[in-house]
Amino acid sequence: MHLPINAILELLPLLAAASPAPSNGYRIPLKKRSTMTNPDGTVNAPALRRGVDDSMAKMKRGFAAYEKNTGMKHPLDTATDSHSKRKTGSVRLTDYDQELWYGQISVGTPPKTYTVDFDTGSSDLFLPGPNCDDTNCAGHKVYNPSQSSTSVDVHETFSLMYGDGSSVSGEQYNDTVTIAGLTAKQQRLGAASTYSSGFSKDNFPADGLMGMGYKSISEYDADPVFASLVAQGQTTEPVFAFNLASTGSELFIGGTDGSKYTGGLTYTPVTNQGYWQVNLQSVEFRGRQVLGQIDSIIDTGTTLIVGDEGRVRELYDAIPGSQDATLQVGMGFFTVPCNAIPTIGLTFGGRTFDISPETFNLGPVESGSNRCVGGVVGQSSLDNFWIVGDVFLRNVYTAFDMGQNQVGFAKLS
Ligand SMILES: *[C@@H]1O[C@H](CO)[C@@H](O)[C@H](O)[C@H]1NC(C)=O
Repeated sequence: MHLPINAILELLPLLAAASPAPSNGYRIPLKKRSTMTNPDGTVNAPALRRGVDDSMAKMKRGFAAYEKNTGMKHPLDTATDSHSKRKTGSVRLTDYDQELWYGQISVGTPPKTYTVDFDTGSSDLFLPGPNCDDTNCAGHKVYNPSQSSTSVDVHETFSLMYGDGSSVSGEQYNDTVTIAGLTAKQQRLGAASTYSSGFSKDNFPADGLMGMGYKSISEYDADPVFASLVAQGQTTEPVFAFNLASTGSELFIGGTDGSKYTGGLTYTPVTNQGYWQVNLQSVEFRGRQVLGQIDSIIDTGTTLIVGDEGRVRELYDAIPGSQDATLQVGMGFFTVPCNAIPTIGLTFGGRTFDISPETFNLGPVESGSNRCVGGVVGQSSLDNFWIVGDVFLRNVYTAFDMGQNQVGFAKLS
């Protein structure tokens, strides 16, 4: 089921320019790369584990940046260091893949185009810089500040640690960044001199990454691109929105794209302006609430739904036929019968949105198996919040409103 769709998406041409939309905003077509499954449709367990590790590392980075920037501990950062250090003994394969959504931006004067992964779970923009001579930068388009008349060296370094312990690090610059025809001047970005293995061309097709969270979790302690666009009066509305459905996926800047959803958007307030953090009111199965009141982070850069071990286990306990899959897949993973994939509902702002069986099901454990891996995964290092990623977001239209500080969800059209 996953494969034909992915194959089609791979064939979609990466459209060069954003097109003006009928309403007030601009759309960027997104390309999707997903290899969380093997060619035979079974799950790629190392890739799944690595994805979870990277999401956890990202949360730790954001918490550390938040504390540095605000002088306060992030309210969700309650795990102690020893607790959250889960360098397990499992083998980390150097060859792994991840699921990500990427599209084009341009940087510098004259502008050069780059592809970036749009990540609502972080807040910094970086590209490979001219000094990156490690193999992980090979094949990516380089941002060379000396070839841009608007680049300014801000004389600061940066270092972002990833799930495998390697980092993306380099120098910070200010430069002009254009996304969907909207321009942010003096935008902070990183020119990386090292790229972690997760960003090698094989694993990461985009050139760089663009964080779309709030400034408080920025490693640079600088306005992220979208905040700059808003501050510089570039957007009609201080809103961006994602359609991550299998077809016609796009990032919409400056409002929402009415052609992509039906009915209204149901909003829920951002409870802390760092991540896109909102209250997940309930997790439902067969119309019944199994879990309630969970702090959650809406993250386009996370493939799965990652939650605390205890509540994730509670959820699977309510699903007939579910089994712990620690040994077959990895810590915190569960399987369900392939012929009885559950429909789980998540409630935000009083409205329940279903996770379709197709998106919940990550694929069979092995060829011919009737055990399928579930898209909700537990983590012992995560004790009080959930990361809500693509497994949910592919089912809804999602609006990120930096003006009213709220997240809106709607039914896809
Ligand atoms: C970089 O840009 C910010 C505004 O985004 C500005 O405040 C800062 O002074 C700039 N730094 C340099 C070195 O020009």
